Amino acid sequence: MLTLGIETTCDETGFAIVESGTKILSNRIFSQAPLHAPYGGVVPELASRHHIESCPRLLQEALDQAGISLQDIDLIAVAQGPGLLGSLLVGVNFAKGLAVALKKPLVGVNHVEAHLFAPFMSHPDIPLPALGVVISGGHTALLKMSEWGKFQLLGETQDDAIGEAFDKVASILGLPYPGGPHVEALAATGDPTRFSLPSGKIKGRPLDFSFSGLKTAVLYAAKGQNSLKSSDLIISEADKKDIASSFQESALRDVVKKSLVAAEMQGCKSLVVGGGVSVNERLRALYKELSPLPLFWAPKNLALDNGAMIAGLGYFEYKGGKKDRYDLEPFPRFYWN
Ligand code: KG4
Ligand code: ZN
Repeated sequence: MLTLGIETTCDETGFAIVESGTKILSNRIFSQAPLHAPYGGVVPELASRHHIESCPRLLQEALDQAGISLQDIDLIAVAQGPGLLGSLLVGVNFAKGLAVALKKPLVGVNHVEAHLFAPFMSHPDIPLPALGVVISGGHTALLKMSEWGKFQLLGETQDDAIGEAFDKVASILGLPYPGGPHVEALAATGDPTRFSLPSGKIKGRPLDFSFSGLKTAVLYAAKGQNSLKSSDLIISEADKKDIASSFQESALRDVVKKSLVAAEMQGCKSLVVGGGVSVNERLRALYKELSPLPLFWAPKNLALDNGAMIAGLGYFEYKGGKKDRYDLEPFPRFYWN
């Protein structure tokens, strides 16, 4: 069974063809990041327009790379949310049009759950129940996956997502967008103990996250107490490295610590990490150092936003009885099945 997966939740257009839920025949991704970089972040209106232009081209590339024609597709899966409303509208309506024209079933997929499903595509034998950690530009969430494709939310961020915090810290330090890889590179040569930058705690909710206070602490360390984003930096190049390193250590340790607590509470046998921040090497080193459980993550082309993870999860959900429907609406806010 061949599934076409469509991803347009943010600033990546992704089209993929996946056979039987795990065999990736093609996975085409067009990142708009350079187009948004001059603005320091994603401009929603621009993102939707670029998705409109990219969808037909990426579809053709995905078909060509898989060596199939449109008629060979058996199922269409589209990221239904969460994400930017305009971007989602483009992908969902493109998917609906295709499904109606081809008379093929259509299912909507939760993008956050798909991030966690991605590691299962390359490691189908991950021991369950697994503790899922979704860390991306839009989300920070802990979920329990007790069987393939069945998720339970345990904790999530109450303000900024961790990737968003990396992007904002990069912007404060004058680094390009998207900031995660630049902060990681700078942090690698800095002293993580130099600045005290605590991550947020939510009273009575030990598995929830808060990164907005940490981001403000970085702002004040870099530009002075009560400074504004537009204020000038008051630190040296060496200080910058130490701030990047102290920030990264604090944010990543918070994720690692809370996910290990959740895994123990839930009796999980493995840890599964997905989303753009999961490619961070320091994060992986921390897990290796601190976790008694085996750790699984997706390769980079499946960790960042992509259509293959949408196709993979869509296939298993459809097989599991999820209704195909042509009246799908985008779901910009977080939602759980
Ligand atoms: O999963 P993703 O591609 O898109 C969302 O669903 O948000 O994640 C993108 C996020 C961005 O915030 C980016 O800065 C962050 O992942 N990121 C990183 C690294 N590479 C990408 N954060 C920390 N370290 C990295 N190496
Ligand atoms: Zn994502």
